[in-house]
Amino acid sequence: MRTHLSISFLLVIGALALSIHPSRVNPPVEPARTIQSALDPPHEVMRILDRSCADCHSNRTVWPWYSRVQPMASLIGRDVEQGRAAMNFSEWPAGAKGAGFLLAACAAMDAGVMPKKPYRMMHPDKAPTREDIRVVCSWSREQAQRQMTLRRRAEGAGQ
Ligand code: HEC
Repeated sequence: MRTHLSISFLLVIGALALSIHPSRVNPPVEPARTIQSALDPPHEVMRILDRSCADCHSNRTVWPWYSRVQPMASLIGRDVEQGRAAMNFSEWPAGAKGAGFLLAACAAMDAGVMPKKPYRMMHPDKAPTREDIRVVCSWSREQAQRQMTLRRRAEGAGQ
């Protein structure tokens, strides 16, 4: 009887400790603020960004079970927090800033620094292929050129 009690006690404490970990938070997604709404990326591009990047660069993080366990909880929580702060598909900036993010995303994938190494080790299936990188880079360049054209036009109209 006593052992039963202490086991349930431990389970309750354990469940509490796990469930109140503060860093596993997905802020609400407002559809009008997303990269989809801003740029309507081709399906293929969105599939790659969703698969390889969205866990740290969007508000739709899929938290793995081990993100409840220290020390991974802190490490993953920090990566997601800093990743979202650097670039967030769910809170996409308009215009040149967004285009700049896309060029940086292409460069980071091409250099193999994103997704980060520990993430690639835990999710080998999510690493972008050479073809994925080519697809994202070619679309990023298109978007950057489009922004330049828009800006030139706006400047022309202002004269
Ligand atoms: C495991 C989490 C994680 C994943 C997955 C991830 N990133 Fe990141 N990313 C970060 C963190 C953390 C930072 C900010 C600190 C740093 O640069 O290490 C960052 C920074 C960046 C930046 C720099 C933004 C700036 O300030 O200029 C770019 C670009 C970027 N990531 C692109 C990507 C792309 C593209 C993918 C998918 C192919 C990706 N990341 C996947 C965690 C991640």
